[in-house]
Amino acid sequence: MMRFIDCHLFLLFYAAVLPQHFTADGKVMMEYIGATGIPVTFDFVPVEDKIDFHFILGFAIDADPSGNAQNGIFSPYWANTLTPESVLAMKNNHPNAKALASLSGWSLANKVLRWYNPKDPKLWISNAFSSLKSIAQNYHLDGIDIDYENFPMNSNASFAYCIGELTSLLKNQSVISVATIAPFHTTVLPYIELFNGYGNVIDYVNHQFYTDKVRTPEAFLRAFQLRAMQFNKDKLLPSYEVNGRGIQGDAFFDALALLENNGFDVNGVMIFSADASSSNDYYYERKSQAFLLNCTKV
Ligand SMILES: *[C@@H]1O[C@H](CO)[C@@H](O)[C@H](O)[C@H]1NC(C)=O
Ligand SMILES: *[C@@H]1O[C@H](CO)[C@@H](O)[C@H](O)[C@H]1NC(C)=O
Ligand SMILES: *[C@@H]1O[C@H](CO)[C@@H](O)[C@H](O)[C@H]1NC(C)=O
Repeated sequence: MMRFIDCHLFLLFYAAVLPQHFTADGKVMMEYIGATGIPVTFDFVPVEDKIDFHFILGFAIDADPSGNAQNGIFSPYWANTLTPESVLAMKNNHPNAKALASLSGWSLANKVLRWYNPKDPKLWISNAFSSLKSIAQNYHLDGIDIDYENFPMNSNASFAYCIGELTSLLKNQSVISVATIAPFHTTVLPYIELFNGYGNVIDYVNHQFYTDKVRTPEAFLRAFQLRAMQFNKDKLLPSYEVNGRGIQGDAFFDALALLENNGFDVNGVMIFSADASSSNDYYYERKSQAFLLNCTKV
């Protein structure tokens, strides 16, 4: 009960002092959807009213259907059950929900996708801007997530430049309002370079903690401390892979509590993915949102 009261006093204070930043409780959910090929829909995913809920559609890819790069011309490859009409209906049902397109992902048509150094970076950026603008308008999207997962040697600079400039342009032309990045264990370096150059246009870091191979709350805390130093602790979200790698089961919620007890504000949670959660009635989505709404910090 004390916690409940503290929480509300804090929110009243927050609303009075910083009205322009007052979105819901300031807590966010990131939910990947549509990446595994099963006919998933938004309909059964629990979305709490007070959470700034982001569906991240996987994936928009700079490639033709055989996986050949198209010089910055992106196409949507998420589950075809996630239609423009269904995105619109979902957003009408949940005014607090947003939809993002995640860029790239691991593979397409059994071809591993890689960042490549475009021959003409300005042309790549211009192609990417136009194609993503048309996808965003068609699908009623609010943002992009950057999920390049393979980098050849010496590609850091072109990645940071092209993706940073693209994101800046999409934001300053009001095509998108949200941008997130999804580094994992072995790809943090190019993402640090991107974040150092363009952190002002990056809202959240969906670090894939499940690739850090930590299985206990204590080890999760140490991984979070490391990633918080590399990026920005307030933009960094703890993450969970359903039926996947890393910490599993309710130990994840013990890890969230441990983060709070060690001085971190848990500002949100990222889950991969709705495709897998449909078989367990979205247990982790429900429990994560309950955790975020309960102001567990003491
Ligand atoms: C990125 O740059 C760092 C040095 O800043 C280097 O150690 C690393 O190998 C580079 N990574 C890639 C993928 O090129
Ligand atoms: C928008 O961002 C692009 C890419 O960084 C930049 O070249 C351009 O000057 C910006 N325009 C405005 C109006 O800020
Ligand atoms: C909310 O907080 C109370 C008090 O700490 C706790 O007993 C309860 O289990 C929490 N509920 C959820 C859904 O986390």
